[in-house]
Amino acid sequence: MILGISGSPRKKATEFVLSKALEMMSEKGYETKLFTVRGKQINFCQHCDYCLRNKECRIKDDMYELYDLLEKARGIVIATPVYNGGVSAQTKAVMDRCRALVAKDYDFFRGKIGMAIAVGGDRVGGQELAIQQIVTFYILNGIIPVSGGSFGANLGATFWSKDTLEGVMSDEEGFRSLRKTVKRFLDVLMRYEGRLGDNGKR
Ligand SMILES: Cc1cc2nc3c(=O)[nH]c(=O)nc-3n(C[C@H](O)[C@H](O)[C@H](O)COP(=O)(O)O)c2cc1C
Repeated sequence: MILGISGSPRKKATEFVLSKALEMMSEKGYETKLFTVRGKQINFCQHCDYCLRNKECRIKDDMYELYDLLEKARGIVIATPVYNGGVSAQTKAVMDRCRALVAKDYDFFRGKIGMAIAVGGDRVGGQELAIQQIVTFYILNGIIPVSGGSFGANLGATFWSKDTLEGVMSDEEGFRSLRKTVKRFLDVLMRYEGRLGDNGKR
């Protein structure tokens, strides 16, 4: 299963482009699932270290739904709105709360494939900085990060929403960057799993 995580509190641009990305993947035969932080209770990591001792998070909130999905995911797509030149606080809270999974199993994320989508209200509003934060999360947890490559999708998919759903829908360059990134993401997923010979069961 490929898991998409929307880090936007709204049902607007970020969730829309993430659903489009997952649609492209399901058209290629992949099972997908979209998780959104919208309307969910996801608290900040408290750094209480309970997870290091007890192998689970002390905060019993909606993050537990995501923990289960992350376990099943072969591929992860994190989509964030750009807030102050970086990821949204919701996206950051999700990434920080993943510490509990790594406390339980140091290799929890190892070998999963990851890509990132950032949606900013401005044309150059920090999309690549936001993606860089997500890619850093991937790298430090052993997730293999994939971009769409040069000529349009250097670090991943980047969108200019002009702060509206209509704006993002008409961002053709953004969708080009998304198609390029999804293509490479699926290619790497397929090659990697083919090499592992696990028939995509992860
Ligand atoms: C607190 C806050 C900070 C923002 N900071 C930026 C920013 O630094 N750069 C940018 O391009 N857009 C910024 N925006 C605009 C959003 O990224 C943009 O409206 C985006 O489409 C929101 O995603 P959504 O439609 O999924 O909610 C900010 C919005 C908010 C609420």
